[in-house]
This record gives sequence, structure tokens and C-alpha cells, in this order.
Amino acid sequence: MRLRHDLDAVLGLQEETYRTNFPGFRYGPRFLREFEKLLRMADRAHHEGLFVAEIAEKVVGFLWVSLLYMEFDAHQEQALVKDVCVTAEMRRRGIGRLLMERAEAWGSQQGATKVTLQVTAANQAAIALYEGMGYAVERYHMGRELAD
Ligand SMILES: CC(C)(COP(=O)(O)OP(=O)(O)OC[C@H]1O[C@@H](n2cnc3c(N)ncnc32)[C@H](O)[C@@H]1OP(=O)(O)O)[C@@H](O)C(=O)NCCC(=O)NCCS
Repeated sequence: MRLRHDLDAVLGLQEETYRTNFPGFRYGPRFLREFEKLLRMADRAHHEGLFVAEIAEKVVGFLWVSLLYMEFDAHQEQALVKDVCVTAEMRRRGIGRLLMERAEAWGSQQGATKVTLQVTAANQAAIALYEGMGYAVERYHMGRELAD
């Protein structure tokens, strides 16, 4: 990713991604400021990978992956996919899969022996993509609303 060139397109992709995955999420200037700050930090860090997919120099997809050290896990060096998204009009053409393969290759180069990610249970498109690539559920994130 070339931060200065791709920043606006990547920020533009986040609204749907966050709304899909975090019900009640509020998209606005504050979120955009924070996300831009995190991207700028990630762009300078060797343990973070930022990738875009482009067609005719237009950004059509984005992926963010980080290298993690998991002390309590047999796979201690892991690559965590934090964000993957493709513009609505370019979906189902293999771009999401291509970005995921890029993340896996980057993870291997960094010494990771496993790739992990989190996905909202209702996000059927993303789950189908991951399952199709061999990812499986390993852990549940559970919650219960408390009465007022
Ligand atoms: C999830 C997402 C990145 C997939 O991108 P994509 O470019 O459409 O995915 P691909 O074309 O590479 O799909 C690969 C395979 O995944 C599965 N898949 C992808 N989208 C699917 C859908 N809507 N329904 C069912 N299966 C789907 C299919 O098996 C597909 O292969 P096929 O098209 O040959 O059947 C895209 O839908 C997206 O950007 N969603 C919004 C952002 C988001 O929620 N990201 C995930 C955060 S955890």
C-alpha cells in the first residue's frame, strides 16, 4: 500500500466493513481520524502488513495483517488478519481470496506458522471465503445483554 496515494480509498472501504461486523458502530469523522492514525503507525511498523488490490490504478480491495507473538500457543508466531474488504461492485471475482493469499505469504515470510482472524457470525460472505480456504472455528466469543 502507498499510504498517501491509497489512504482515501482505503478509508472509504471501512464504513461497510465496520457496519457489517459491529452492529451499532458509528461511522464518522472521529472513527476516520482514529483509523487513519492507526494506518499511519502500521505503515511504519515492520510487524504490520498493509496491502491493496488495484485494477487500472483504482483501489478495489484492502487487507491489513499483523504479526503477533502468542506466548501461550504452540504456534507462537501468528499472523492476524485485522481487516479485509473488497469494493461491492468487484466482489465474487477472487479478489478477497487473492488478498488472503497475500496475507498468508507475508505471514510465512515473517516467520508465522499460523494465520488467525475474527469474524462476526452473521457475516456469511466472509465466513464462506475463509472456510473455502481451510479456516475453521477454534474459539467462540460469547456475550449476554445485562438487564437495566
Ligand atoms: C468478505 C469479502 C472480503 C469477500 O471478498 P470477495 O472478493 O467477494 O471474495 P472472493 O471473490 O475471493 O470469494 C472467494 C470465495 O468465497 C466465497 N464467497 C465470497 N463471498 C460470498 C458470498 N457473498 N456468499 C457466498 N460465498 C461467498 C465463495 O466460495 C467464493 O468463491 P466463488 O465466488 O468461486 O464461489 C467481501 O464480501 C467484503 O468486502 N465484505 C465486506 C467487508 C467484510 O465484511 N470483510 C470481512 C471482515 S471479517
